[in-house]
Amino acid sequence: MSDDRATLIEVGPRDGLQNEPGELPLAVKQRLVEDLADAGLTVIEAGSFVNPKWIPQMADSEMLFAAITRRPGVRYAALTPNLRGFERAAAAGADEVAVFAAASESFSQKNINCSIAESIDRFRPVMAAAEAAGIPVRGYVSCVLGCPYEGAIAPAAVAAVTGDLLELGCYEVSLGDTIGVGTAGGMRALLEELLGAFGTAQLAVHCHDTYGQALANILAAVDRGIRRIDASVAGLGGCPYAPGASGNVATEDVVYLLEGLGLDTGVDLDRLVAAGNRISGFLGRPSGSRVALARSSG
Ligand code: HMG
Ligand code: MG
Repeated sequence: MSDDRATLIEVGPRDGLQNEPGELPLAVKQRLVEDLADAGLTVIEAGSFVNPKWIPQMADSEMLFAAITRRPGVRYAALTPNLRGFERAAAAGADEVAVFAAASESFSQKNINCSIAESIDRFRPVMAAAEAAGIPVRGYVSCVLGCPYEGAIAPAAVAAVTGDLLELGCYEVSLGDTIGVGTAGGMRALLEELLGAFGTAQLAVHCHDTYGQALANILAAVDRGIRRIDASVAGLGGCPYAPGASGNVATEDVVYLLEGLGLDTGVDLDRLVAAGNRISGFLGRPSGSRVALARSSG
């Protein structure tokens, strides 16, 4: 990728809506995904194929993938914790899947009910099936800048699981500040460690905004050459197994940041703001995007 472009990975329909207390009508989710594609987002994590008893909000992911009108050039992605999840995602026509691990043992247990090492073993059959089906696999590492149960996490622990996921065959690893406690200093130190072993093209960042540091943390990553950034329209989201975690950084705000840095995102900010305002209106609360609030007032 040329250095004057950046790619947003839109995770609102999955990371955002998985945390909503109620189950949203399918038509609302469908409209959200279609609005996001119309706004120019080219990678949209639309749902997850996990145990529906754990995350009932995502239980209709098959129906969502069947319902959406697909826009050419857009990759519709899904989270898959195990082979069962991968098979469901492949049958639903997901263009890409993501496996998710953690840099913290406690979080791994709470989130996916197994140790970090067991999770890597559980992903092996997913990788084999995905390779046979020609479906790219992304990896996530949670708690890279802090864990709700263990506190500080050593960069070396993040590097170890990042290496495992890349070695398994993930095309990139998204570094999750799951509870949004990271600072730009922490992000710099983490990337100092990781970029000694991996290239910028193998890494993405996924910053929750609990402490209001997400844009600063993303800027620290962009300054080190990272060009793939996860974000959630209107700042939707959180993680059900990370108490206190607020939404991901708002996609609108990241687009504004990146365009201000002279990086082309291919996203139409006005259409994106409209998409975020529509879902926020449905949820009955103001958008979590400062850019959307600024552009929608008066
Ligand atoms: P388990 O209960 O340990 O699994 O769950 P199991 O293998 O013992 O199976 C138990 C039951 O689940 C069985 O059904 C399985 O069939 C069923 P039963 O016999 O009880 O009726 N099952 C499934 N059903 C549908 N689809 C599947 C599936 N797998 C098993 N794929 C498991 C293990 C990983 C499945 C479970 O812990 C789980 O679903 N966890 C998901 C947790 C989750 O979705 N968390 C939120 C996403 S991660 C996140 O938000 C962080 C991220 O954004 C990055 C960041 O911010 O850091 C990505
Ligand atoms: Mg997340």
